[in-house]
Amino acid sequence: MYFDTHAHYDDGAFDADREELLKSLGENGVELIIDPGCDVDSSRKALELAEKFPFLYAAVGLHPEELEKHGGDALDKVRELAGHPKCVAIGEIGLDYYWDASRREEQKALFRRQIELAMELDKPVIVHDREAHGDCLEIVRDYPGLRGVFHCYSGSAEMAKELLKLGWYLGFDGPITYKNARKALEALELCPLERILIETDSPYLSPVPMRGKRNDSSNLRYVADKIAQIKGLSPEEAAALALANGCRLFGIERA
Ligand code: NI
Repeated sequence: MYFDTHAHYDDGAFDADREELLKSLGENGVELIIDPGCDVDSSRKALELAEKFPFLYAAVGLHPEELEKHGGDALDKVRELAGHPKCVAIGEIGLDYYWDASRREEQKALFRRQIELAMELDKPVIVHDREAHGDCLEIVRDYPGLRGVFHCYSGSAEMAKELLKLGWYLGFDGPITYKNARKALEALELCPLERILIETDSPYLSPVPMRGKRNDSSNLRYVADKIAQIKGLSPEEAAALALANGCRLFGIERA
């Protein structure tokens, strides 16, 4: 019943036990997964996993943190990979001023080109926004009709209202279970039920009580439970809602 709309199973952190782990997730209630690529290689790996596991879908894209990897014909390759039948989105793409504040213009240009690709292919986008809220909002506003999710939402309540008005979904991850969570919880409080997605960002951002360990989709329930608590739902209702939302945004039909 869980849909983890953001988990990097192509990551090296899963090299030792990737197949066994993915096979075991169904027993833990995980029904669907999206693995977003971060560069050409990882996008390709995500698609390979999608070919192997019917419940796993891929997104392809160039992450702003890996700017130096995206030269040459990287964008053409992303376009080519996006044609795969199990590619459901362009991502993860966006702006990251935490890791690299020095190449903002390059990041913005790459973000825009990938948004334009998504619109051309009529696919949603998965947006990474780290300490770049103003610029991310300014850019996505330039593309009416663009659909997608702000992954691991970390902006203000005001920005959330703006995004929701524009039709965006907000993704919530392990950090909402942390003691110092405040901004993301404010956004969650005002987010309508039909715009909530639940993500793990595995192998990163493990929720309490798994914090500090490698994350995987079986921990999605801790995030779902927190969402249920904030929104006054049962954990099952929260999970079912997010699953339906993910299927709607990414155009996935349940088996
Ligand atoms: Ni991610």
